[in-house]
Amino acid sequence: MKLREFSRQDVENKKVLMRVDFNVPLKDGIVTDVTRINAHVATIRQLLDWGAKVTLVSHLGRPKGKRVDSLSLSHVVEKIESALGCPVTFVDDVIGEKVKNAVDSAPAGTVILLENSRFYLEEEKNDSDFAKKLAHPFEVFVMDAFSASHRAHASTRGVMEYLPSFSGHLISREIEMLSAVSEAPEKPFVLILGGAKVSDKIKVIDHLLTKVSAILIGGGMAYTFLAVQGKNIGHSLYEEDKADFARQMLNKAKEIGVDIVLPVDTAVADSLESDAPRKEVSVNEISPSDMGLDIGKETVALFASYIEKAKTILWNGPMGVFENPVLAEGTRLVAEAVEKCTKNGGVTVVGGGDTASAVKKLGFSEKVTHVSTGGGASLEFCEGKILPGIEPLLETQ
Ligand code: 3PG
Ligand code: MG
Repeated sequence: MKLREFSRQDVENKKVLMRVDFNVPLKDGIVTDVTRINAHVATIRQLLDWGAKVTLVSHLGRPKGKRVDSLSLSHVVEKIESALGCPVTFVDDVIGEKVKNAVDSAPAGTVILLENSRFYLEEEKNDSDFAKKLAHPFEVFVMDAFSASHRAHASTRGVMEYLPSFSGHLISREIEMLSAVSEAPEKPFVLILGGAKVSDKIKVIDHLLTKVSAILIGGGMAYTFLAVQGKNIGHSLYEEDKADFARQMLNKAKEIGVDIVLPVDTAVADSLESDAPRKEVSVNEISPSDMGLDIGKETVALFASYIEKAKTILWNGPMGVFENPVLAEGTRLVAEAVEKCTKNGGVTVVGGGDTASAVKKLGFSEKVTHVSTGGGASLEFCEGKILPGIEPLLETQ
């Protein structure tokens, strides 16, 4: 899968509207993580270098069509200025005369930032009249917001009806990397899954089962699989309505020769809030009052034996409750194995959302091939969906 990128000719001296994802965490009006801002810098710089007038549009949070001061993109201006090293003009609207005047009067090389697109209800409805107004002051549209490309909104999809549209560097890189692992992965291809729920990962398992060499399952979702194998899982997470699915997947994997590898030991505590020292037990010895909250050392060794030999890795979902340092061990050691695989020449891709936060917190972001900026978007991509914010940008050959 390849996207249509802009050339110098497409953007030189043009008024360019660029969709970014500045849906960043804020605390008391201050941006606490600039990863998503930095991720767009290369595309913005390229546009400026080629003489475009760049206007950025994004959503922030879920204001549901109302003006909410705490979700104004004005809070993000300073961080964009320091990331780009140039001034950014903020316009407190998304459509209309104010925007048009600012764009028309701005000199080439200028960066303008519009207000939160979700201050208008029409944004999430992908209202065509709103999309047309959004497009009106501009000559070209650049879509770079991979992490919002699973949303069919006016600023991620509708606007493409009205302007010649191209992909930015971030979204192109995301699609290149996620396609590399999910379309024609070099084998052994190992899928590492974790996170709380089986239900979040069903479609990914369904879509990738016939392409993988092995699936390693950790996190809360592992206990439903262990339970259908007859293990006593105590108080651990159990999704009764997903037990049949888990059973079917285990059977199907066996039929087609794919290993589904489950934990053999687990770190347990009596509750999520526990501050007790780490205690590991075999999955055959989980007591009725215990909850499994991380994979154990033997499981790490088992998982690492697959990871270190892999040529391709896709990892989505932490191995345990990594927010608690006592329960971050499994995720940290799996990240170490993934780092080793990368050093050995493997292509290693980490899904966004919680997995990206975990890998970042544990210091491994630079030690894998690619960390996606998209949580929901990377998951839906790996389910085999053609994302609405990407579909119009696909190169036909
Ligand atoms: C995200 O943070 O996952 C994206 O910015 C999309 O946001 P949304 O889930 O509110 O659409
Ligand atoms: Mg989200």
